[in-house]
Amino acid sequence: MEKKIKHVAIIMDGNGRWAKQRFRPRIWGHIRGSSIVGSIVEAASDLELQALTLYAFSTENWSRPEDEIRSLFKLLHKFLKKESVNIIKNNIQFKVVGNIEPLDSNLKALITDIENKSAKASGLKLSFAFNYGGRQEILDAVNKHIQLKPGIAITEIDMNKLLYRPEVGEVDLMIRTAGDQRISNFLLWQMAYAELYFTTVKWPDFTNIMFKKIIEEVEKRDRRFGGLDNSGNLQASQEVAKINLNKLKDTH
Ligand code: FPP
Repeated sequence: MEKKIKHVAIIMDGNGRWAKQRFRPRIWGHIRGSSIVGSIVEAASDLELQALTLYAFSTENWSRPEDEIRSLFKLLHKFLKKESVNIIKNNIQFKVVGNIEPLDSNLKALITDIENKSAKASGLKLSFAFNYGGRQEILDAVNKHIQLKPGIAITEIDMNKLLYRPEVGEVDLMIRTAGDQRISNFLLWQMAYAELYFTTVKWPDFTNIMFKKIIEEVEKRDRRFGGLDNSGNLQASQEVAKINLNKLKDTH
């Protein structure tokens, strides 16, 4: 049977609150938070997910204090340096989605290096959403379309091809830790039919056992994509809808 959950997206929230509860600075929470990312990536690989997208820094996160922003950049650098070996060893195809232009040149070079070295990997498609905003991604796609096909209306097929990383496709499941029930400008287009799962566990306490349990639980959910049964997928459901619409249009 075809696996239902192929692409998981995670909002890794609650680092600051986790640290505050322990009377530590927020950065302490980010350090602990970044230390568990590797094991979640490994779990995603073990589960044979096709794609995992992690929200590491949003376009809105620039409003945080400067030292916190610098620390998040440093943690990303450290994480990538440490994990690059595992990324290659585990056949993971790594990409950053978002605008890396404002990052320092060493970090940009490291990102590009891992992206290039892992480009041909056939396992998990791992994306780090860094300096990423969902509305910006949609705007960038529409603006690219205007340049490519001026005066021609954009379609869903065009849009799917113009996203930052088209090959990862729809999000099947979005998990957010730390209790807030929002999607916070994350993968807005790709999450149209995503299952949402909110846990009160803060990111530094999230484990790969919890991750596996959530996937098992959500795989039991009935995903109908606007139809009445869960036997198909979004594309199949959209095709049936199109056929029915045309039939019904002609008969009344
Ligand atoms: C939210 O916690 C988390 C982020 C802003 C980004 C996620 C960052 C990490 C997991 C650490 C960096 C890791 C890598 C690999 C780059 P928050 O500060 O918003 O928590 P709060 O809501 O409790 O304040």
